[in-house]
Amino acid sequence: MANCLDSVVFLVLLSALMPAILSSPRPFNSVDRTEDAPRVNGSMESSHRPSSRPGVKSAGGCGYNEWACASGDECIPWRWQCDTFNDCADASDENMCFECDTGSRKKRQSKNSQRRPPGTKKNLVPWNWICDGIRDCVDGRDELNCDCGQGLFSCLGANGVICVANSWKCDHILDCKDYKDESIAECGSIESRCWEGALVCAHGQFCVWQEWHCDGSNDCGDGSDEINCAKSENQNSNIVMAAWNPTSPAPTTTTTAATTTTTTPVPVGVWGSWTDWSACSEFCDGEKTRTRICLTVQLCEGPTSETTNCGDPPPCYTEPMTGCGARQVNAYVGSHRIIGGSPAVTGAWPWLVQLKKENTNTPYCGAVLIDNLWVATAAHCIVGMGFHLYPDMLKLMVGKHYLTENSYDPHEQARKASSIIIHSGYNQYTVNNDIALVKMDQPVEYAEGGINLICLPESGEEFSEHSICYTAGWGLTEEKVQSHVVQEVKLPLVPHDTCNQPQSYNSYVTDKMLCAGKMAGGVDTCQGDSGGPLVCEKADGRWYLVGITSWGRGCGEANYPGVYTKVSMYMDWIRQKMDQYK
Ligand code: ARG
Repeated sequence: MANCLDSVVFLVLLSALMPAILSSPRPFNSVDRTEDAPRVNGSMESSHRPSSRPGVKSAGGCGYNEWACASGDECIPWRWQCDTFNDCADASDENMCFECDTGSRKKRQSKNSQRRPPGTKKNLVPWNWICDGIRDCVDGRDELNCDCGQGLFSCLGANGVICVANSWKCDHILDCKDYKDESIAECGSIESRCWEGALVCAHGQFCVWQEWHCDGSNDCGDGSDEINCAKSENQNSNIVMAAWNPTSPAPTTTTTAATTTTTTPVPVGVWGSWTDWSACSEFCDGEKTRTRICLTVQLCEGPTSETTNCGDPPPCYTEPMTGCGARQVNAYVGSHRIIGGSPAVTGAWPWLVQLKKENTNTPYCGAVLIDNLWVATAAHCIVGMGFHLYPDMLKLMVGKHYLTENSYDPHEQARKASSIIIHSGYNQYTVNNDIALVKMDQPVEYAEGGINLICLPESGEEFSEHSICYTAGWGLTEEKVQSHVVQEVKLPLVPHDTCNQPQSYNSYVTDKMLCAGKMAGGVDTCQGDSGGPLVCEKADGRWYLVGITSWGRGCGEANYPGVYTKVSMYMDWIRQKMDQYK
């Protein structure tokens, strides 16, 4: 519940502000990359460097203000990238640096300089700071050549920024030193785009053809396709990185009377994980496919793809690009839809809104855009034991992908509340009627790929168990922290009776609530997600507001799926209130 969140929010907030409190003022003419202090009134000019940005390896288990080394095992303070000290065991923090011609990037803060002597070169910036719209080099070189014009994009060449044709992207031929044309971020996961027997480069961004192994050219860009070239039939190349199987059987030698022949035992390779199931086939015959690749040079046993029926009725919808419930971004790219919760594609849930208490930097609840002036949320996000939020205590953030305001969300819009309507039947003990409407002081502007409204269900509409439903939010994850970017999870709707069984919620779930998740547990919303939407896709390809995150026992526990306010039971109420407070 919202009140149980206060301490979490406070701690997150405190840790977000600490670096700002400790740091020194920033020098003239450079952008401050050291702090993650809240930015002033959401203005881009005064923005601070976000701690995790598009293109940077997502900070997995790393904390706020930290950067994940390429190995994924270590976190270093974010500003230690390209400071000429190898902080990561794999030196990845000093690997991909770009040199400004003159001047330098921002000085290291004094606390840090005490830790060790200053580096020799102070004019290096990480490659992914290039052409990100923020000038980091005093000479501005990191933002030169960035606007390549139609059909071209900018990336790092041998001597600075170059323009490369869009058609050269994702063709497994490396054109950019920073891997931008072949990166996972640009082209999708290794599993989704490589093929059996392909060589996955050590940097893990893309793969090349087996024939390119040891052909004398550095095709991977990191030289990993040119190592272990000793020519022996049976020698395993170790360029196959992810799941290299060092225990593969060694060749055996059989001696017969006449000849000596060497036979290699049938090698057993290692499969990569299956991709997500594809969307149902386009022609609505209800088939879906998933694939996997063999990660090793040894052959893998078994099929590389699998096809199955999609269920009844087959969820085989084409998503429209305009109108309510349209996502306007290709949210199916890569393998993002992983059961258990994973970062959403930017803009995938454009109706998702953050509720914040005035003067805080992280949201405490979610909400959903149902009109350009109105959001729906949970009543318990507004009132509870010993608290009641009034309009001037509330801030709404629309168009967010990142958790905090001091990060870059191009479509972000902040609004104040002008009216709050709590359902008069809300009962904080039974949690019945856990719904509220918030009217904003000014309409939000829809932005393609960033902000859109959700479709509302019919009054009394029931959604089938086979519906494809998702929820998203910035609430606590398995690691018990709020994630930097919005998380999404696919949740099946749980039949009412199943959810009310004695070993489950034992009749506590009223007919104005619904359950979603798995009886086995593992997928759920959690503290901080409250008020956010549970949306399901209908045959018109649009997403509809089916539930509002309300309560649950624990998070992701077996037998206790999440419980949501059943929106179709409140359609008359919603319409009437929006009309009354027009
Ligand atoms: N009440 C929680 C909140 O205030 C959300 C709970 C959802 N819990 C669950 N297990 N689905 O954020």
